[in-house]
Amino acid sequence: MFIYTVVNIGSEKLLKEEIAIKYPKLSFAYSRPGYVTFKDTTGTLNLNSKLNLVFARVYGISLGKVDKNNLENEIKKYSINKIHRFSFINGESSGENANTGDTVLDILEVKEGEYWLGMRIIHKYSWNIPGANPNIILPEDAPSRAYLKIAEALIWTNYNSKKNEIVLELGSAPGGASYALLEKGFKVYGVDNALMNESILKNPLFTHIKEPMQRVQDSDIPKPCHLLVSDVNVLPSLILGQLKRFISIRPSIHTVYYTLKIGDKISVKEILKHIETFKTFGFTEVHATQLPSNRSEILLYGKK
Ligand SMILES: C[S@@+](CC[C@H](N)C(=O)[O-])C[C@H]1O[C@@H](n2cnc3c(N)ncnc32)[C@H](O)[C@@H]1O
Repeated sequence: MFIYTVVNIGSEKLLKEEIAIKYPKLSFAYSRPGYVTFKDTTGTLNLNSKLNLVFARVYGISLGKVDKNNLENEIKKYSINKIHRFSFINGESSGENANTGDTVLDILEVKEGEYWLGMRIIHKYSWNIPGANPNIILPEDAPSRAYLKIAEALIWTNYNSKKNEIVLELGSAPGGASYALLEKGFKVYGVDNALMNESILKNPLFTHIKEPMQRVQDSDIPKPCHLLVSDVNVLPSLILGQLKRFISIRPSIHTVYYTLKIGDKISVKEILKHIETFKTFGFTEVHATQLPSNRSEILLYGKK
C-alpha cells in the first residue's frame, strides 16, 4: 500500500522529515514538485487511517500511475461520485466540493501526461476542494498578501463568524489580514508599531494600537475579545509567551489563528515541539497546517 500526499511546492523535504519523525515505517517512494508518495511498510494503513501531518495538505491511499490514454477507463473502475482533478502543471482543477465523510477520487496530473490516482476520505480539517486550494483572488487594493492567509484559514477551519465578533490582531501592518477580517464584518484591533494602510485606518471597525505587542496592557484590549490572530515576525519563543499572556488576560478569546514563521533556522522537530507547547494553552482542538499561500511559515489554529 502506498500513501500519496499533496504538499506546498518547496516543502517536500519538510514533509519527508515530518513523516520520518511521526511515521518512520512510511518510506519515501516517489516525488514530483508538490506531490510525494510513501510506501507503508507496516501493511496496516487503509482508507480510514488518519494521519496527523502539518506539511501535507492532502493524504490518502495511492491507486497508482495511469497514462493519459487509459485515464478515463481507469476512472470508471471506481464507483465514486466525488472526482477531483488537479494539474500540477497548470494549476487547473475541477470537481465538486466534498462534504465531511465523503470519499474522493483524486486525479492528479503530476507531470505532463502522467496521472496518479488516489482515494481519500474527507475529515473535519481536510481540504474538501479540488487541488486542496480555494484559489482565492487577492483584491487589488488589499494592503498585503496576508489577506490570502487569513481568508484561507477561515475556510480551512470552516469558521462560522457571528455578528459583532472582535479580533485582536498581533502584527497587523500593513493590513492585508485586517482587510480580509473587516470585509467579513469583524471588528479589528490591530497591534503593530509599524504603519497601517490608510484605507484600513479609515475603516470605523478598525482600531490601531500602535505599540509592540509586549507593551500592550489589559486596558488596551477590547472587552470582550473573541479571536486572536497573529502574524508577527519575531522569535517563536517570544510569540508563544505573548499568545499565552493575551489568552489569559481575555478568557473570552475562543479561537486563535497564528502564523509561525519557520524560515530555515527552525527544525521540523522544533516545529512539532512548538505545536505541543501551543496545545497546552487550554484549547479543546489544535491543528496545524501549511496553507496554500504559506511560504516559509505554517498556520496554527486553536479552538476552546
Ligand atoms: C508579516 S508582517 C504582518 C503582515 C500583516 N499581518 C498584514 O496582514 O499585512 C509582520 C508584522 O509584525 C510586526 N511586528 C514585529 N514585531 C512586533 C511586535 N513585537 N509587536 C507587534 N508587531 C510586531 C512588524 O511590524 C510587521 O508589520
